[in-house]
Amino acid sequence: MSIARIDTAIVIVAAGSGARLGAGAPKAFVGIDESPILRHCLDGVFAAAPAQVIVVAPEEYLGEALSIAHAAADDADRRAADPRVAVPSQAHAQHADPSADVRDRRRDLVTIAAGGATRQLSVAAGLARVWSDVDVVLVHDAARALTPPEVIDRVADRVRETGHGVIPALDVIDTIKRVDGERIAAPVDRSDLATAQTPQGFRRDVLDAAYQRASEEFTDDAALVADAGHDVLRVEGSALAFKITTAADLVRARDLVRRASRNLPALGENRENFETLAEFRDARRPHLPRVGVGTDVHGYGGDGSLWLAGLEWPGEPALSGHSDGDAVGHAIVDAVLNAAGLGDIGTHFGTNRPEFAGAHAEAFLAETARILADAGWQIGNVAVQLQANRPVFSPRRAEAERVLSDALGAPVTVSATTTDRLGFTGRGEGVHVIATALVVPRR
Ligand code: CTP
Ligand code: MG
Repeated sequence: MSIARIDTAIVIVAAGSGARLGAGAPKAFVGIDESPILRHCLDGVFAAAPAQVIVVAPEEYLGEALSIAHAAADDADRRAADPRVAVPSQAHAQHADPSADVRDRRRDLVTIAAGGATRQLSVAAGLARVWSDVDVVLVHDAARALTPPEVIDRVADRVRETGHGVIPALDVIDTIKRVDGERIAAPVDRSDLATAQTPQGFRRDVLDAAYQRASEEFTDDAALVADAGHDVLRVEGSALAFKITTAADLVRARDLVRRASRNLPALGENRENFETLAEFRDARRPHLPRVGVGTDVHGYGGDGSLWLAGLEWPGEPALSGHSDGDAVGHAIVDAVLNAAGLGDIGTHFGTNRPEFAGAHAEAFLAETARILADAGWQIGNVAVQLQANRPVFSPRRAEAERVLSDALGAPVTVSATTTDRLGFTGRGEGVHVIATALVVPRR
C-alpha cells in the first residue's frame, strides 16, 4: 500500500478553545489519561483504512500537534508490524497486512494546518491542504476522541458506494419536547430524529464546492453540503463517538479508557456502559483473557433424585440447597462471573429471580452465558473438578460435559475424584466442586 494510492483524506478539526470544558488548554490537548484527546482520536484514525490525515490545530499548537500525530503514527506502525500486539479490530486486521509498505510510514500521511476562528473556518483550512489525488474527504471532530475505527471505515465505504454525503448517527433515546422558555410547547416525534456524529464523509468535489459557496455558518458539514443541494445519508454511529464537550464528558472518557486499559468491566447496571466499554476494548485494546474461580459445596439430604453436572442420577442420594443443589452448575456460574468481574451467583440469581428457584444447571448456564455476552465477554472454557464419593462419575462424564457445554456455549470439562476418606467428602456427607473459567473480551 503506497502513499500514491491514498485516495481518502480525513480532516481532524482540533483548533477549538474548549470553552465549555474549561480545562485551561485547547480541548484537543487536554489529557484523557497520559495522552491528550487528539492522540486518542488519532489512534482510532490510524487504525482505520489508510488516509491522508490533516490535523487542524491552533496556531500556537502546530508543533505539539505534529509531535502527537507522529507519535500516534509510529505506534500504529509498530502495532501493525508486531504480531504479538493484539490487532484491535477486523478493520485494522485488514490494513495490518505485513506486505503493506504503508506500515513504516504512517507519519508520511500527516499534514498539519492552522485553524480558524470558527469550526467551519478550521475545516476550510484543512480542506485547502487535501492532496490532489484524494477524491473522498472525511471531516472529524478531535473531540470525538474514542470513535471506533469501524465507524470511520463505515462512513468512507458508504461514500464510495453511493457518492452521497454520509454521516454516522444514532437514534434518539430520550423523549424530546419543544420548549418555549419554561413552558413545554409540544411533544416531538423522535422516530424521525437522529443525533449526528463525525466523521462526516463526502465526495471531495462536492465538499469543496459546498465550502466555496457557503456564506453563513452551518452547524455541521452535512448541513452545509445539504444546503448546496446534495443528499446526505446516515450510517450507524457509536455511543463511543460522543463528543467530549463538558467536564462530565471528560470524566466519562477517562473512566472508559482507564477501565478498558486495565481490562476491567464497566461499572454499574447501565447497559450503555457495558456496550461502549466492550466496543472500546474491541477497537483499541489487546484482547487479554481473564481467569476466574468458583467453588460450591452441598450436603446430601435433599428431596427427590440427585441432580449433578446437569444430569439426573436416579437412585442416588439428592443434594440439599437452593434450586436443585447442583454444585457443579453453581461452581461454573461463579467461576465465569468471577472471571468477567461480574459478581457471583448471588448477584444475578438471588431471590429477585424466582424463576430460577427450582431450575436445573442448564438454565443457570444459559442465562450466565447471556449475561457475559451482554457485558462484552466470550467464554473460553471451564474446567471443573468434582470431589465426591457418589455418584461414580466417569460412566456419564461425556454426557455431562455435553449438556453443560451446550448450555454454556463453551467447552466444559469435568474431572472427578474421591478424597481418600478424608474430610466431609471422604465421609460421604456431601460434594465439593471447584471450577476454573477462562473468558476473553469479545471481538
Ligand atoms: N474546532 C476547530 N476550530 C474552531 C472551533 C472548533 O477546529 N474554531 C473543533 C474543535 O477543536 C472540536 C470540534 O471542532 O474538535 C467540535 O467543536 P466543539 O466541541 O465545540 O469544540 P470547542 O469549540 O473547542 O469547544 P467550545 O465550543 O466548548 O469552546
Ligand atoms: Mg465550539
